[in-house]
Amino acid sequence: MNKPIIEFKNINFSYDQEDELILKNVCFSINEGQYVCLIGHNGSGKSTIAKLLCGLLNYQDGEILINGIKLNDENLEALRKDIGIVFQNPDNQFIGSTVEDDIAFGLENRCIEREKMISLVHDFSKRVGMENFLSKQPEELSGGQKQRVAIAGILALDLKIIIFDEATSMLDPQGVEEIRKLVFDMRKKDPKLTFISITHDMEEAYLADKVICLKDGEVFLNDTPENVFKHEEELKSIGLGLPFIVKIKNDLLKHGIKIDENIKNIEDLAGFLCK
Ligand SMILES: Nc1ncnc2c1ncn2[C@@H]1O[C@H](COP(=O)(O)OP(=O)(O)OP(=O)(O)O)[C@@H](O)[C@H]1O
Ligand SMILES: [Mg+2]
Repeated sequence: MNKPIIEFKNINFSYDQEDELILKNVCFSINEGQYVCLIGHNGSGKSTIAKLLCGLLNYQDGEILINGIKLNDENLEALRKDIGIVFQNPDNQFIGSTVEDDIAFGLENRCIEREKMISLVHDFSKRVGMENFLSKQPEELSGGQKQRVAIAGILALDLKIIIFDEATSMLDPQGVEEIRKLVFDMRKKDPKLTFISITHDMEEAYLADKVICLKDGEVFLNDTPENVFKHEEELKSIGLGLPFIVKIKNDLLKHGIKIDENIKNIEDLAGFLCK
């Protein structure tokens, strides 16, 4: 599948017309079904890209195409229906008065029939481990629990494009793994689902189909994880490191042991070395 579903063409953006540009000539494209990680230092423009993509900010210069159609004021509502975003701060997106209402909110907006809605709310609250909190109010929840609710609300919507903006940053390690598996299973079931993850987790980025790295509002690197993480010094210069597995692979290479590119985790590496 090589059909571009998202294209940014020469996007220049500033929050205030007089201010300096926050995004500078940003160009990239994402294919349908791809899992793309957007990485970069704090303030490099990642969340700004996500907000432009789902129409929460208007762009002044350049073009954004969704499924080949240029995003504009007239088609924004229609195109937005296919895109869901889970934001960095879960407090900014808790809309319902309870967990149940909050997960149901997007489904109600899409006029999903009541019985199906109830079943989806129960299914997804369970999948994110929040099935025993359905009647709780947001102030009774921890940050990580609120993130779980926000994730359930978006995943339940059967969308074409899902964006996680550091959506699991407050989750415990097991929770991060569970959500990763949940998304993996959903992508397996629906290979057309495009998933964009904005993250500071280089281990996660190493698992993506493609990594786009921003530096001061510009696309700095845009390639496969294998190729992006060859740029150790450049990444270091903007405060980013290498995934642990890449560091080990590099060290082994210094000792003359070349590890297969397809080996992406410690278990597979151990298996390879013990062969
Ligand atoms: N509402 C706003 N008004 C003015 N400037 C903003 C606004 N939101 C963000 N900025 C500025 O835009 C730049 C990019 O911010 P953005 O939130 O996109 O960065 P980010 O890459 O998501 O960073 P982080 O890793 O910290 O989440 C920053 O310099 C920030 O100060
Ligand atoms: Mg951000």
